[in-house]
Amino acid sequence: MASYFDSTTLILVFCLIVGLATGNFVQDFDITWGDGRGKILNNGDLLTLSLDQSLGSGFQSKNMYLFGKIDMQLKLVPGNSAGTVTAYYLRSQGDAWDEIDFEFLGNLTGDPYTLHTNVYTQGKGDREQQFHLWFDPTADFHTYSILWNPQGIVFSVDGTPIREFKNLEAIGVPFPKNQPMRLESSLWNADDWATRGGLIKTDWSNAPFTASYRNFNANACVFTNGKSSCGSIGMGWLTQELDSASQGKLRWVQNNFMIYNYCNDSKRFPQGFPKECSAN
Ligand SMILES: *[C@@H]1O[C@H](CO)[C@@H](O)[C@H](O)[C@H]1NC(C)=O
Ligand SMILES: *[C@@H]1O[C@H](CO)[C@@H](O)[C@H](O)[C@H]1NC(C)=O
Repeated sequence: MASYFDSTTLILVFCLIVGLATGNFVQDFDITWGDGRGKILNNGDLLTLSLDQSLGSGFQSKNMYLFGKIDMQLKLVPGNSAGTVTAYYLRSQGDAWDEIDFEFLGNLTGDPYTLHTNVYTQGKGDREQQFHLWFDPTADFHTYSILWNPQGIVFSVDGTPIREFKNLEAIGVPFPKNQPMRLESSLWNADDWATRGGLIKTDWSNAPFTASYRNFNANACVFTNGKSSCGSIGMGWLTQELDSASQGKLRWVQNNFMIYNYCNDSKRFPQGFPKECSAN
């Protein structure tokens, strides 16, 4: 009997069972815009987006997800990337969309990237938190993850949580839980606001700018024909919450690397902070 199953088959079966099939960009994504500036390379192991003075580029997942733990490795535009923005996010459709955002704002050579995060629920965002990173995100690939389950949303960098948005529906804060989202990413020019508030413009003599992606992994519930299917094995992420060690790491990031927090911007909210600010 055993001779029917060579080791490749066994590995394949194993991957299907535990839902670990590491992504292949050809299989999992479509390049959605950019006129050839987005490329899938190395048999689907690598994806690159580029931006020049006439256009940027972008891609999106073929699947829609309703909850998941999604990891991707990114290597950002090196050198003088001022004015460029690499966005990587989950987003649903329509006017009352939900969105979970990572945006990387480029900078002059040697100055730090800003990692900008936001959470939109039913079309309303205004929940920005920004960070500097504890490493150079252009030197190597690093893993940026979104854990999205019914208890909350956790943004992580190389496994270290940097932000948590809890499900606080109990106190009247909308939480994304009904609208399936696609994973999308794009590289574009935003030199009217991105770097030092728009003071520093994109230097096109450095174009084309390129960001790279690899090792996509989605442990997620895939939404098809109006239904979400999660399988039943390897689903620990669906109930995962931050344990006390992870909460300690989150505090370390927030104390040392957070450069902006909407929940700390009293000028912006003279009538009082949004409800989630006192609870998160
Ligand atoms: C760029 O570098 C400056 C100077 O260190 C820093 O204040 C800023 O937060 C950095 N990021 C952006 C996007 O401007
Ligand atoms: C919070 O507000 C204080 C006072 O305005 C400011 O000094 C500090 O940098 C802010 N922290 C963040 C993370 O925005």
